[in-house]
Amino acid sequence: MNIKKHVKRGLWNHLMKSGVEMGLASIIYEVGVASKYVNHAMRTGDLGMAGTSNLYGEDQLALDVMADEIIKDRLDHTGRVSRIISEEQSEIVIFERLNRTGGYSVCYDPLDGSSLVDVNLSVGTIVAIYAGDDPLQSGRHQVGAMYVLYGPRTTLVYGTGNGVHEFTLNSLGEYVLTREYITLKARGKIFSPGGVRRDYLPEHEKIVQKLEQDGYKLRYSGGFVPDINQILLKGGGLFMYPATTTAKHGKLRLPFELNPMAYLIELAGGAASDGRRPILDLDCYDLDQRSPVYIGSREEVELATQYFT
Ligand code: F6P
Ligand code: MN
Repeated sequence: MNIKKHVKRGLWNHLMKSGVEMGLASIIYEVGVASKYVNHAMRTGDLGMAGTSNLYGEDQLALDVMADEIIKDRLDHTGRVSRIISEEQSEIVIFERLNRTGGYSVCYDPLDGSSLVDVNLSVGTIVAIYAGDDPLQSGRHQVGAMYVLYGPRTTLVYGTGNGVHEFTLNSLGEYVLTREYITLKARGKIFSPGGVRRDYLPEHEKIVQKLEQDGYKLRYSGGFVPDINQILLKGGGLFMYPATTTAKHGKLRLPFELNPMAYLIELAGGAASDGRRPILDLDCYDLDQRSPVYIGSREEVELATQYFT
């Protein structure tokens, strides 16, 4: 085995070779470290619920709460993070440990789709990173984003302005580069429609009908991370979670879910829109802010927006 070559393909080495600023690189790397513990907890833990006890009589944390704690601690440990918001926290958390100027703010969803763990489907961690002390900014200001997908394999995908890259967790616990500079074609062949069809608005119903007529294949797992990952790695397609008659802002959250995924998909040459405006241009002012979303390859997103003008 060529050890030198092997070492070069690790996550930290890739971050350094790509010239990613040290603080930003540490955040991405430490989320990677945290994800190994999340992964382990998910694969080996009791199938207990929050509020129940484990074998030792201790209160057992639900996986999403545990994932939140693990990631929060690792982010604090970097000494480069000043503020976080998490889908599991109700307000902005301030870190005291920041010992340098030029820190970062991080928004994350520790375990998106956590209810799918019980039925053994794939779930993920999603992260958005901003420079400075304000975690509630429009997604356009992100300096990096990443996700970890806990599937049959555990993969980590990151971007910091220069391409989108995938790493796969090996049996030694290392994230090893598996795909570099992932790109989306202008159009794909699959679509992932969230929401209940009975509750669709007329514009959205027409979009879905058009995709069906054009022969797009249905691919919807109910997990945002695996559904987006499939579109990214298959090189195209459209994921939608629309505004409905019962939820006029849709379901998915802007700071933790939509902004980081929109950043990565745009970086890979795709697009993301709420139907009228790019997701990355939306003002973000609330932790619980939601938005409808059309995200994937450029032509399908463009097609969707035509129905709203
Ligand atoms: O966190 C939201 C989430 O679980 C996403 O992972 C997923 O895309 C969506 O909800 C699925 O929603 P629904 O169950 O309504 O299809
Ligand atoms: Mn979520």
